[in-house]
Amino acid sequence: MRIVDGTETAEDDFEVSLRPQTLADYVGQKEITDNLDVFIKAAKMRGEVLDHTLLYGPPGLGKTTLAHIIANEMGTNIKTTSGPAMEKPGDLAAVLSTLEPGDVLFIDEIHRLPSFIEEILYPAMEDFELDIVIGQEGKSKSIRIDLPPFTLVGATTRAGDLSAPLRDRFGIVNKLEYYSNAELAKIIKRTSKVFDMPIDDDAALELAKRSRKTPRIANRLFKRVRDFALVLGDGNIDKDITKDALKRLKVDDFGLDNIDIEYLKSLITKFNGGPVGVETIATSIGEEVTTIEDVVEPFLLQEGFIKRTRSGRVATPKSYEHLKIEYNHSLF
Ligand SMILES: Nc1ncnc2c1ncn2[C@@H]1O[C@H](COP(=O)(O)OP(=O)(O)OP(=O)(O)O)[C@@H](O)[C@H]1O
Ligand SMILES: [Mg+2]
Repeated sequence: MRIVDGTETAEDDFEVSLRPQTLADYVGQKEITDNLDVFIKAAKMRGEVLDHTLLYGPPGLGKTTLAHIIANEMGTNIKTTSGPAMEKPGDLAAVLSTLEPGDVLFIDEIHRLPSFIEEILYPAMEDFELDIVIGQEGKSKSIRIDLPPFTLVGATTRAGDLSAPLRDRFGIVNKLEYYSNAELAKIIKRTSKVFDMPIDDDAALELAKRSRKTPRIANRLFKRVRDFALVLGDGNIDKDITKDALKRLKVDDFGLDNIDIEYLKSLITKFNGGPVGVETIATSIGEEVTTIEDVVEPFLLQEGFIKRTRSGRVATPKSYEHLKIEYNHSLF
C-alpha cells in the first residue's frame, strides 16, 4: 500500500475521529461551504429538505466528511450506502424505506449504480415516490409508495462516468478542489490536537507540502511521523524529525513516492520522454492502468510533471530536472 495514495484503506479508520462535524470546522473548499451554508439555512427557514447534492473530486478530499456535515447542519440523520452495494432493486427499496422525513441518504461511489437501480432512483429523487414491481413475471404489477422528503447526497471520484439523467437530478453540484499547503497545515494542526501530539508550525507545513494536496494523505503521514517522533525523538514533532521520517517513508520533497518516480523514470529512460500510451507505461512498471490513471497521473499532471497529449503521455522539463536527467528535446 502506498502511503501517498489518496484512496481510502482499512487503516484509515482513524479518520472517523478526525472528521470535522460542522461547516465552520471544515477547512478549505470555501466557495462550497459558503454556498452550502446559505442553502442549508434557506432550506431550514422554509422547512424543506436540502436539494439533492452531488460531491465529486479525487479520493481523500473530504466528500464523505462533507456529506456527514450536511446531515449534521440540517439536524437530521444520515443513512449510508454505495453504488456497488446495490445489486437488486430490492436493495435500494430497502434503504429508501428506512428513511425518515428530512434524512440524508448518502450514496458513495454513485457512478457505480447499476442503470436499472438508477431508474428506480429517479422518481424517488423527483417526487419522493418509489415504484416497485411485485409478483411473478406475467402477473406482476407496479405499486407506488410515498417516501418522506429526503436529501440524496451522492459522492464520486468519477463525475464523467455519471449518466446525464442522474447528474441532472442534482440541484447542487460541487467539485472539490485540491487543498493549499496552508490549508493542509491547518488540518494537520487540528489532527495533532485530536491525537494530543504537538507538532511545530514549520513541521506541519513540511508535511503539508508532501501530502499531494490531500487531507487523507496529510493525516496518514502525520500518523506515521508521530510514530517516529515518539520512538526516535522526544515526542514533539519538529521539522527535523519530520524530514527524517519522510525520508524513511520514501516520500520526497514534492510528495512523490517510489511509484511516481518509477513512472517518470520509465517514461523518460525507456520511452525517451514520450509520447507513450498509459497501458505501455503501466506494463513497464507492473502497475494497473486504473491505479496509474486514478492515483498516479492526476497529481503528476496537476503538478506539471507530465502532460497528456493526443498521442500519449509526455514528460515535462520539470520531471527531468526532478530526476536530475538532462533534458535535450528541442521545443520545435
Ligand atoms: N476540509 C477538511 N477539513 C479537515 N479534515 C478533512 C477535510 N477534508 C477531509 N478531511 C480529512 O480527510 C479524511 C478523508 O476525507 P473523506 O473520507 O471525507 O474523503 P473522500 O473525499 O470521501 O474520499 P473517497 O473518495 O476515498 O471516499 C477525513 O476523515 C478527514 O479526517
Ligand atoms: Mg468517501
